[in-house]
Amino acid sequence: MDETTLQEALTNPKNLGEMTDADAVGTVGSPDCGDMVRMWIKYREQDGRKVIDKASFQSFGCQTAIAVASMATELIRGKTREEAMQMSGEDLSQALGPLPPMKIHCGQMVEGALKAALEAESTASSRAAAMAAPSQTGTLVDSLSASGKHAGKIKIILQS
Ligand code: FES
Repeated sequence: MDETTLQEALTNPKNLGEMTDADAVGTVGSPDCGDMVRMWIKYREQDGRKVIDKASFQSFGCQTAIAVASMATELIRGKTREEAMQMSGEDLSQALGPLPPMKIHCGQMVEGALKAALEAESTASSRAAAMAAPSQTGTLVDSLSASGKHAGKIKIILQS
């Protein structure tokens, strides 16, 4: 894994924070380590196609997941939903180089959050669904506080 790229992504993470006008949101937690990532997506029309206008994320804990999520939100901009669906955790973390075995699930968790958000958009007229689903509202802090897990140990960096 490329430590310099990792540090750069952590020093200046892209698209970090909740997106209030998102069309879709997806959240995935890792059973391996208890970390969570939530991803928001907004679409726009371009040349008659619907493409991803922007994406943002919230995460806590694992640095690799934060770095991969940051890169993923940049990589998927301008892609259609179908194109973004094709991207694997490996594709999303490519800039970091091969992940060590114990970190592979970090990239997979980001992939899971991305796919959950892409799926959310396809199943219902998205924004209403994303806003209406109780489990999808609020922030990760709310979710984690509600579950009681990680209470007092949560560190989430919000976009300024
Ligand atoms: Fe679990 Fe990275 S250690 S997501």
